[in-house]
Amino acid sequence: MTTVTTTDRSFNLLKGESLLDGLERTGHEVEYQCRGGYCGTCRLTLLAGKVSYDEPPLACIGQSEILPCCCTVTEPIRIECRAGRQGELPLETDQYIFDF
Ligand code: FES
Repeated sequence: MTTVTTTDRSFNLLKGESLLDGLERTGHEVEYQCRGGYCGTCRLTLLAGKVSYDEPPLACIGQSEILPCCCTVTEPIRIECRAGRQGELPLETDQYIFDF
């Protein structure tokens, strides 16, 4: 069982689940596009632990960055990633106050 600790919480990845899927399942907001290691949009900062890749991803990433869409988490990791929609306005437009 692989434990992932983010900025806001800890959870265990399910068998066969990608890190990106696990983050989404647990309410984290991660931007993504390709979900295949090509674009680099999903990059996150790895604070502790290690991940591996079946094949080197095509996206350029820094030494402390990982791509949760295509990495394999092989040991407990700690990453910078926030859960929820903290700081954003609610989606219901009738709750907005427009001041023209
Ligand atoms: S979503 Fe494109 S590299 Fe992860």
